[in-house]
Amino acid sequence: MLPNINPENTIAWQNLEAHFEQNDFELNTLFKYNEKRFEEFSIVNSDYLFDYSKNLANSKTIELLIDLAKETKVEEAIKAMFSGEIINETENRAVLHTALRDFSDKEILVDGENIKPGIKKVLQQMKTFSENIISGKHKGFSGKEITDVVNIGIGGSDLGPVMVCKALMHYKTRLNVHFVSNVDGNDFVEKVKNLNPETTLFIIASKTFTTQETMTNAATAKDWFLKSGKEEDVAKHFVALSTNIDSVKKFGIAEENIFEFWDWVGGRYSLWSAIGLSIVLAVGYENFIELLKGAEKTDIHFQTSELKDNIPVVMGVLGVWYRNFYDSASYAILPYSQYLERFPAYLQQGDMESNGKSIDRNGEFVNYETGPIIWGEAGTNGQHAFYQLIHQGTELIPADFIAYAKSNNQVSDHQDKLLANFFAQTEALAFGKTENEVKDELKNSGLEDDKINNLAPFKIFTGDSPTNSILFKELSPDTLGQLIALYEHKIFVQGIIWNVFSFDQYGVELGKVLASKILPELSDNQETNSHDSSTNGLINYYKNFK
Ligand code: F6P
Repeated sequence: MLPNINPENTIAWQNLEAHFEQNDFELNTLFKYNEKRFEEFSIVNSDYLFDYSKNLANSKTIELLIDLAKETKVEEAIKAMFSGEIINETENRAVLHTALRDFSDKEILVDGENIKPGIKKVLQQMKTFSENIISGKHKGFSGKEITDVVNIGIGGSDLGPVMVCKALMHYKTRLNVHFVSNVDGNDFVEKVKNLNPETTLFIIASKTFTTQETMTNAATAKDWFLKSGKEEDVAKHFVALSTNIDSVKKFGIAEENIFEFWDWVGGRYSLWSAIGLSIVLAVGYENFIELLKGAEKTDIHFQTSELKDNIPVVMGVLGVWYRNFYDSASYAILPYSQYLERFPAYLQQGDMESNGKSIDRNGEFVNYETGPIIWGEAGTNGQHAFYQLIHQGTELIPADFIAYAKSNNQVSDHQDKLLANFFAQTEALAFGKTENEVKDELKNSGLEDDKINNLAPFKIFTGDSPTNSILFKELSPDTLGQLIALYEHKIFVQGIIWNVFSFDQYGVELGKVLASKILPELSDNQETNSHDSSTNGLINYYKNFK
């Protein structure tokens, strides 16, 4: 069981409220009066630096935020999760994605049974299968090697693998891995356009094996395949990743082609499980193991570090500081790496499906804010799109900047330019540009006084936009695993503090149910009038074009 504490009723929360009222943090001042600020507010790890000095906080703030984590029993919750307690109470499940990357000899029990042997068995199955595909030993129905793999899945059965395959492109095997997720038929058609059924392997990835989008795309894939291959050839070209073995078999996939995982792996935390098969095929089994081992490093850090030195905890409490005290509604994820292009989208599900909740662990409405809107884009691209608003808009938008010191591809001076932009942006966001600086600059450019006065307000940067910087040595499967797990645990810490259940997602259900009610109405010949006038109107307009 998780602790059940209303954060607003803690002493730390009251202290933080008073602390917020008493202080008006300015980063210029905070840095000016503390020469050691960077040293004090950064954590150096063997593979990366976490710099949180550019936050609107002093050491008292951090102390109080850590008090909040203590009072809301984050330490106890961490223990509960890792030991397999049923902390996903609303679904009556343990939360053990961390067991998938636990290479220690320790047993982990679910319902009294050690889950480690089962995990090992599936990993071995993934190893053998991927090696046979990559080496060309496994042949398609016409005797040719597999060249292309299509993962059909959505949400957690898509976003994690997509993000990792993109991030680790540098480590690519000879296989081309594609992802079909949307029920929009255009997705399937465009992805298979240039593929040959004789050399294509489909992975049907669905924890529940009931998701409408995935089941529809899977059926379409089978039809597409059967235009060339025969029913008995399906075994060579279709595999499934699921917890629902019976439904997979009913779909026509043989038992030996099923890669199992378990209900204690949440969809958005499942890339470490059989759901990672597309990753294994894309970058090879050894690199997948390195990814898991990287995540394990973060798990160990998370379990063993003091809260104040615990990076996911510090990330988590700073997020709470902005969300609940500065009232900031959104949080930007800004990776300065094209390889991490899909990382913000991946975290949108990870964070928003976990902590986008308004009911606390008592079943009551919360009267404080919970999960923020997560968004972002790779730098430097984002600089030419939305950074204007972060610099000069009316919202306070905290952001995480993520980069790698060494590039996987050293191309002339690209890397220095990329990192120069990273450093410059965090500096500009923190310290801004004062009216005097603007006026001096305009004067030096030869402008007259009245023009200077007119133009100056538009050129001022107020600064004080907080950022964390995470700077890794280089992008590898290991460091990527570390990074992903950092965010998983940050989300966990925040869910504990906000007293919500982070591992269910009932908010996605209503739309699914209504869509299945509407679906038959779209193919009857009558005017639809069973809904509100807007929904009826939309449906009837649509039917005009069928
Ligand atoms: O969007 C809701 C959701 O249940 C996610 O949590 C999950 O990752 C996704 O759908 C896909 O589910 P499945 O793997 O069962 O097809």
